[in-house]
Amino acid sequence: MIIAIDGPAASGKGTLARKIAKHLGLHYLDTGSLYRAVARDALSRGFRLDDTWAVVAMARSLDPASLDDAGLREPGIGEAASRVAGIPEVRAALLDYQRHFAARPPGTVLDGRDIGTVVCPDADVKMFVTATPEERARRRFLERQAAGVEMTYEDTLQLIRDRDARDAGRESAPMRRADDADLLDTTEMDIEAAFDAAVGLIKRKISQ
Ligand code: CDP
Repeated sequence: MIIAIDGPAASGKGTLARKIAKHLGLHYLDTGSLYRAVARDALSRGFRLDDTWAVVAMARSLDPASLDDAGLREPGIGEAASRVAGIPEVRAALLDYQRHFAARPPGTVLDGRDIGTVVCPDADVKMFVTATPEERARRRFLERQAAGVEMTYEDTLQLIRDRDARDAGRESAPMRRADDADLLDTTEMDIEAAFDAAVGLIKRKISQ
């Protein structure tokens, strides 16, 4: 069984996907961590993100054992990830790993931007998790405040809007809801409510 969960930044899809995987006893892959790791590797070796050749080389030699690094969640890395994610050869280099992971028994949950559309178009369950930009900015702002990162709410909202535009506007595997994905709008939901709604969607889908 493959569960594909896509959606924009700070929609809650990561927390939700992790919780669903645990609940159902499935393997979980945060595919954003792959793009984050490529950006981290390029920057830590002193390459510029517009040095396509170097960034693609980082993607081709990515070590999956390095995906647990806490540094991947640093604010600047998310923006950098979104930039390297626009390079088609980077996406191509990461595709095999994601598809192999998806096929692991007894089943998997993958979250990202293009899981239901490109990585696992035949997934058993597809969800597109979203929330208004204002609500996502509020969540990210609180997260960053708790982590001691100083950034105003207005700047956080602007970053969310810029990232949405970049992720949805790129030519290669843009962020979009697959035609057969269920929409889960979590604007008015806390994580427990979103989890209950997601489990309801999954049950409905697999009993069909
Ligand atoms: O947690 P957050 O939503 O902020 O970001 P993430 O899921 O870790 O993804 C970081 C960036 O990687 C995104 O802005 C996308 O540009 C890119 N990404 C992608 O292109 N395709 C995926 N399947 C996952 C992430």
